[in-house]
Amino acid sequence: MRNGTKLLMLAVMALACTACLMASGANAASLGPTDSGAQAAQVMFPVSNQPNPTAAGMKPVVFNHLIHEKAVEDCTTCHHTGDPQSCTTCHTVEGSGNGNFVTLERAMHATNIAKRAENTPQSCVSCHEQQFARRECAGCHSIVKAERGNDWCAVCHNVSPTPKQMQDGCAGKMSAEENLKLAEATIAAHQPAQPISPMSGPLKLRIGALADKYQPNLFTHRRHVASLWDAIKDDKLAQAFHSKPETLCAACHHRSPLSATPPKCGSCHSTTLDPANPQRPTLKAAYHLQCMGCHEGMKVERPRKTDCATCHKPAQ
Ligand code: HEC
Ligand code: HEC
Ligand code: HEC
Ligand code: HEC
Ligand code: HEC
Ligand code: HEC
Ligand code: HEC
Ligand code: HEC
Ligand code: HEC
Repeated sequence: MRNGTKLLMLAVMALACTACLMASGANAASLGPTDSGAQAAQVMFPVSNQPNPTAAGMKPVVFNHLIHEKAVEDCTTCHHTGDPQSCTTCHTVEGSGNGNFVTLERAMHATNIAKRAENTPQSCVSCHEQQFARRECAGCHSIVKAERGNDWCAVCHNVSPTPKQMQDGCAGKMSAEENLKLAEATIAAHQPAQPISPMSGPLKLRIGALADKYQPNLFTHRRHVASLWDAIKDDKLAQAFHSKPETLCAACHHRSPLSATPPKCGSCHSTTLDPANPQRPTLKAAYHLQCMGCHEGMKVERPRKTDCATCHKPAQ
């Protein structure tokens, strides 16, 4: 078989596979079996030591064990005591002796976990944060400081049980079958948002508000957006947390309402330091810090920050 034909066949096979994945994704209600023996997905309830716990008013959380055990190599990264049992055996709402009084809230969200001699425990949030170091995440996430407001909580706290289910769940009395059904229904009801197309922004852009010593910068807007989107399109963590169609645009178009027609940088960053907002970078610094911040985060080879003429040719 000639190489060209082989490649074509591989491409056709890959396409067919994408189609079958998409078909199974469309009715994702029932998840496959796990290798670990754990339930494929599980609703995690705020288990309490008290008969009448003071509820924090948070919805319970679905944990998808199947995708996590595929993405994380070592069981003991999460099951840090070496014994795969429910976290709430030791970490309850109030904390208990066998968990060193580390509360459930702390075990799930802590990001300031001191390093241990061996096997430092991970919370949900501390591990997710570590993913930002991956190249495809590191560019945007070195220029974005996430707000972590209510929308962020709701990505995890998204289960709506009946009052009876809530009671049974918190008391550890819900059957495995009912728990799995509730977990799968929740997953099916929360499919990730499709990001807005890179085509919705300009193709190329002439950034020239400051042009003086240099000619305007010709910014390849669409190429930038498309290559950033493309690199993360299969990541489920990114899909779940970039929860609005325009979330990703806000990496650069920040601190304004999400929009397909965001304001220019110069509408908030002035050319000279603003005495009312001395901490805000001037417009030139704003462009430079944002462009270089991402390039350095992603270790982009070209342009380096000292390659002034790659971004703007000297004025004639
Ligand atoms: C990465 C997933 C994730 C995110 C994001 C998250 N949580 Fe949680 N949280 C959990 C898990 C898992 C539990 C344990 C199961 C449970 O209690 O439902 C939990 C438990 C809690 C508890 C203790 C249980 C209770 O109901 O008293 C509180 C309080 C809480 N979360 C508040 C928040 C708030 C507020 C936010 C947003 C600022 C937030 N969480 C964001 C995963 C998350
Ligand atoms: C990303 C973190 C993570 C990884 C990796 C992980 N687990 Fe889990 N596992 C959990 C969480 C969270 C639960 C739910 C605990 C709860 O209900 O409080 C769980 C539950 C379980 C349970 C059911 C415990 C019970 O009594 O309800 C078993 C069994 C289990 N895991 C085995 C494994 C094995 C084996 C591996 C490795 C192949 C593994 N897990 C990898 C986080 C993880
Ligand atoms: C058998 C009991 C036990 C189980 C089960 C258990 N833990 Fe722990 N966990 C502990 C103890 C004890 C500590 C405190 C010891 C330490 O800090 O090394 C701790 C500490 C932690 C910490 C560090 C908190 C801090 O303040 O530094 C995190 C995070 C954590 N656990 C998460 C989890 C998660 C997530 C699960 C379920 C996948 C889990 N634990 C299951 C006993 C347990
Ligand atoms: C050790 C690292 C690690 C820990 C701990 C961890 N996660 Fe994740 N999580 C990941 C990774 C990696 C992905 C992306 C998996 C993929 O793309 O296949 C992910 C994806 C997700 C997603 C998006 C996919 C989905 O299930 O809808 C959610 C929500 C989530 N995690 C919640 C949690 C919760 C809740 C906990 C704690 C009980 C937790 N994670 C603990 C690494 C972790
Ligand atoms: C094109 C830019 C961009 C890329 C690339 C990107 N993100 Fe994000 N991400 C954002 C923006 C913008 C937010 C929202 C920040 C906010 O809430 O203010 C965000 C928020 C998040 C959040 C929730 C906030 C938090 O701190 O927990 C997670 C989790 C996340 N991203 C994961 C990822 C992962 C994993 C990757 C790589 C696979 C990735 N992102 C790549 C722009 C990006
Ligand atoms: C990654 C691209 C990039 C690199 C590399 C870069 N700049 Fe810029 N620079 C910009 C952008 C974008 C603007 C805003 C252009 C405008 O509004 O005219 C700008 C504006 C300027 C301005 C103000 C406009 C003018 O013409 O006077 C100066 C001065 C400047 N840059 C100097 C430098 C110098 C010196 C270097 C090399 C050490 C450099 N820049 C490297 C992107 C870059
Ligand atoms: C990598 C950073 C980055 C990302 C991601 C990004 N943009 Fe932009 N965009 C810019 C910069 C820089 C400008 C120039 C702003 C200026 O002239 O002050 C711009 C300008 C624009 C403009 C023209 C504004 C005007 O009138 O001059 C539109 C419209 C736009 N972006 C839409 C979008 C949309 C929609 C998305 C998400 C699909 C997006 N952008 C994502 C960096 C980005
Ligand atoms: C709606 C107003 C607004 C717009 C539009 C805006 N910014 Fe900002 N920018 C801010 C605010 C607010 C801060 C935080 C500093 C402060 O509190 O004044 C900031 C801070 C920054 C910082 C410092 C790092 C950080 O995130 O705190 C950079 C770099 C920056 N902006 C670049 C840009 C660029 C490039 C654009 C256009 C693509 C832009 N900004 C558009 C309001 C804006
Ligand atoms: C959020 C990340 C990010 C931001 C912000 C960013 N870039 Fe880039 N840039 C990249 C990546 C990644 C590449 C590597 C080439 C590719 O994959 O398209 C790149 C490549 C480039 C290149 C070489 C390829 C080309 O398209 O010409 C230039 C020039 C460039 N960027 C200019 C800029 C300027 C000017 C800014 C600020 C206005 C900027 N970039 C902001 C991520 C970013």
